[in-house]
Formats: sequence, C-alpha cells, structure tokens
Amino acid sequence: MKELINKLEATGMLGKDEFTLLLSNFTPELSEYLFQKARNVSIKYFGNRIYTRGLIEFTNYCRNNCYYCGIRAGNSKAERYRLSLEEILECCESGYELGFRTFVLQGGEDNYYTDVDIVEIISNIKNLYPDCALTLSIGEKSEESYRAYFNAGADRYLLRHETANQEHYSKLHPKSLSLKTRMECLWTLKKIGYQVGAGFMVGSPFQSFENIAEDLLFLKELSPEMIGIGPFLPHHDTPFGDRSKGSYELTLFIIGLLRLMIPNAMLPATTALGTINPKGREAGILAGANVVMPNLSPIRVRKKYELYDDKICTGEEAAECRFCLQNRMKSIGYELVVDRGDFKPII
Ligand code: 5AD
Ligand code: FES
Repeated sequence: MKELINKLEATGMLGKDEFTLLLSNFTPELSEYLFQKARNVSIKYFGNRIYTRGLIEFTNYCRNNCYYCGIRAGNSKAERYRLSLEEILECCESGYELGFRTFVLQGGEDNYYTDVDIVEIISNIKNLYPDCALTLSIGEKSEESYRAYFNAGADRYLLRHETANQEHYSKLHPKSLSLKTRMECLWTLKKIGYQVGAGFMVGSPFQSFENIAEDLLFLKELSPEMIGIGPFLPHHDTPFGDRSKGSYELTLFIIGLLRLMIPNAMLPATTALGTINPKGREAGILAGANVVMPNLSPIRVRKKYELYDDKICTGEEAAECRFCLQNRMKSIGYELVVDRGDFKPII
C-alpha cells in the first residue's frame, strides 16, 4: 500500500480501483506514513501557519429535508432563528477585533432572505471591512443569484457536493434534490470566478469505499480551492438518528490523501472532526489540514445550529473559541495568522 501512497505523492492522482484498494486497507501504520508526507506538503506550501475563517451561522431555517441534517425542514423540534443585518455586523465587528480576515456566512436554504437582502448584507460587510474576504455558504441558487452576490463582493462559496455517486446521493436526500443540480451549481460558481469549496461527509449512511474513491476523482476534476470533509455524526431528530458515526481515523486518512492530491488546497480541520474526538482538530492539522473555522455566532443561537448531536463550541464566546484554537494550534507547533488566506495557484 505504501507504493500507492508514493504514487499519489509523485503524480497527484490514483485510479478509482487504486483509491478503493488503499481506502479498504488503511491501517494506523499506513496512516502515519501518509500523514508524514501530507504534513511535509502543508509545511512546504503554508509553513506552520494556520488560516482562520470566522463562521457566522445566520439562519437555521431550511426548506430542504436532507436525511442527515439536524436543521432539515421536517425537524419540527428545531428552534428556528434568524440574525438581522445589525446582528451579523456585530459578529463581524467582534471577529475583526479578534483577528479574523475572512467571514463565512452560513445558513440553511432560507428563502426569507431575498437576493436583495443577501446583496445588502454582502455590501455592508465589504464596505466596513474591505480588507476581509467574504465566503457564502447558503446552498443551491440560480446562476443569476450567484452572479448578483459575486458582483456585490462575495469572494468564495462553500457548497459540499456530499457524494459524487448518484445512487448514494438519492439515499441521503429526498427526490426534490439531485446530484445533477448540485454539480451544476458547483461548475457555475467556478465559472463566475468564486473560490469554490466542495466536500463530503465520511461514513455517511450507505457510503462505500468505492463511493469515497468517486468523491476523490470528482474533486480532482472540479479542483476546488477548498475541500471540507468531516465524519458523519447522527442527529437524534433526523431519519438517520440511529445510524453509526463515521470513522475518525478514516476521516484523517482522507485529509492526508487530499493534501497529496491537491497540495495547495485549503483544507479545514472541521468542527465535526473536533466533535468526534477532543483532539480531532489538532490531529486534522497533523494529517495535512491548514484551516480552522471558529464560530462567531452569538451565544444565544449557537445551540440551535445543531446539524448533528453534541456539536462543540456551542457555549463559548467568539473570543473563547479563538483563543482556545490558538492554544490548541500552539500546542502542536502551529500558529493562527491574521490573513485573508486566499488560495494561491502553483506557478
Ligand atoms: N454530520 C456531519 N456533517 C453534517 N453536515 C450536515 N449534517 C451533518 C451530520 N449529521 C454537513 C454537510 C453540510 C455541512 C454544512 O455540514 O456536509 O454540507
Ligand atoms: Fe470553541 Fe475550543 S474552539 S471552545
């Protein structure tokens, strides 16, 4: 198996069968071999510098019904909230003081906010903080909407593809959602000029190693600037409430593979990774990740943005999360930097 890792390191790519074989044979020893290489690649491109993005979860209303997600429309137990423009700007203000130079506006697919509203939010943030990057993560929209946000100043867009296999996609989502639309959205976002983030959950119900291999092939083809992956974690009020968690070790292994595949990609050590294991985000960095995304949402809404059970950082102030992560990174020899952290092409 080490030969396959060497090949991936040398060429940046493997075939589907090779990825499947590698994934189904991963061991702690092989992981260590991979992580060492992945870490060296991160250090080469980013040094010991970790980028931060301040996450603002501004609405937990969602019109969709993804079977895995705690804020799905069908979850009548979710307590819904929306932040006003003023509240969002307050999050940015405290975030800016704490050193954040990227804000991520994330929410469910909430049609309460019209394109005019979203554009107003974007323009306000970009006017007040012209030195900051703005990332949107608000789901599937029309090309026209994506263009309007981009023209208003949005720089980046996160839209996980969730799974690159059509059959698997239909087992995670109701009929109203399709992989085809999802992929069209991603290609449209790229075409418009956004820095794009895709990604998937590791260990989502019905996922096979072959499916993960397909995800890796799709990611190589799309070649997004960012790739977010984390373990699937059940939420008790969803159809997948009694499914088992994804594998922590396999998630780390895939982060390592992605680092070798796309050496300069922005790879976050996600909140889900920090939830499945108390040292998960540190381990993610040591497996090749280079980004963390502390929460800037007001404390009163934190617990309500519950995509899965036991999500961490729901009781902490923005400053607490920032300093907590700063210390965690320091403990493994890395530092959080005050920087937009833009994707840089390899010249
Ligand atoms: N477990 C882990 N990740 C989840 N997401 C949604 N629900 C869950 C869950 N139960 C992820 C999805 C989505 C992102 C915002 O969070 O991949 O794209
Ligand atoms: Fe939020 Fe540690 S990062 S409390």
